[in-house]
Amino acid sequence: MKDYKDIILELEALIKDNEYDITILSNSSALLNQYLDDLNWVGFYKLKDNNLYLSAFQGKPACIKIPVGRGVCGTTIKENKTLVVNNVHEFKGHIACDSASKSEICVPIYKNNILYGLLDIDSPIYNRFDDNDKVNLEKIASIISECLSNVKDI
Ligand code: SME
Repeated sequence: MKDYKDIILELEALIKDNEYDITILSNSSALLNQYLDDLNWVGFYKLKDNNLYLSAFQGKPACIKIPVGRGVCGTTIKENKTLVVNNVHEFKGHIACDSASKSEICVPIYKNNILYGLLDIDSPIYNRFDDNDKVNLEKIASIISECLSNVKDI
């Protein structure tokens, strides 16, 4: 696994001068999938009219629409904060897109300080995401949020 410090430097270079949100989200999911170990899904959901819609991702096909308040993703938006789930089987209402998933982290993403959606990462091992992952993935989400503030939706 690459150091978060190096991942962040590479991410900033990759997404800073993009014109459209989809290119930022696509390359961010590809980079995280390339450099983080023990993941089976990494991608983004976008918030619109009280639902989350599947956007750019790496992994198996996933649930296309999640109401706010449902599952790990919908709860992250409802509570407007990062959720780390060490064992998804113990999370009431967890939505299993890939039966291999055992732990998960969801981090809110903002555009111009307004809730835009989230970064969702699933792992096939329990307890995959510790405090260091949480801090660094929140930093990554804030870089993505800043870059999104300057681009158009496609
Ligand atoms: N597990 C999520 C659904 C999205 S997938 O993991 C890609 C949830 O419970 O909301």
